[in-house]
Amino acid sequence: AEGDAAEGEKEFKKCKSCHMIVDGDNTIVKGGKTGPNLFGLPGRVAGVGDFRYGNSLAAVGETGLAWDEAEFVAYVADPKAWLKEKLDDSSAKSKMSFKLRDADDAANIWAYLVSVSPE
Ligand code: HEM
Repeated sequence: AEGDAAEGEKEFKKCKSCHMIVDGDNTIVKGGKTGPNLFGLPGRVAGVGDFRYGNSLAAVGETGLAWDEAEFVAYVADPKAWLKEKLDDSSAKSKMSFKLRDADDAANIWAYLVSVSPE
């Protein structure tokens, strides 16, 4: 189902303890620094940017995987399981332990991230 960006904005509360959304000098969501800045996530290569990513997520990025809705929804449902599957490596590790199991909530958050992304 198509995500609802307004709902996603509310649901992003679950993420902002660790993630900010910052476009240069423009802070869209003031958040924590435990996780990477999620500004411009849609279409961005995974595990690449100004953050000390874990080796597993960085390795997925080296394969060229870019975030789309399906990968995003699967990742946030269980980041470690997603990394294991992508790398075909049962020892893969995630620096994100938080899980958002509800796929509708994840689709809403994706729609919100799209809505605050550059064209
Ligand atoms: C990474 C989304 C909640 C900590 C990521 C990435 C996404 C994401 C898409 C990969 C970013 C990239 O490749 O550049 C979300 C969403 C959340 C959420 C949508 C809420 C529903 C949290 C929470 C924490 C957290 C609550 C901390 C307790 C991290 C960390 C990473 C990460 C540390 C880096 C993972 C690694 O390098 O292995 N998150 N996150 N996230 N997130 Fe979250």
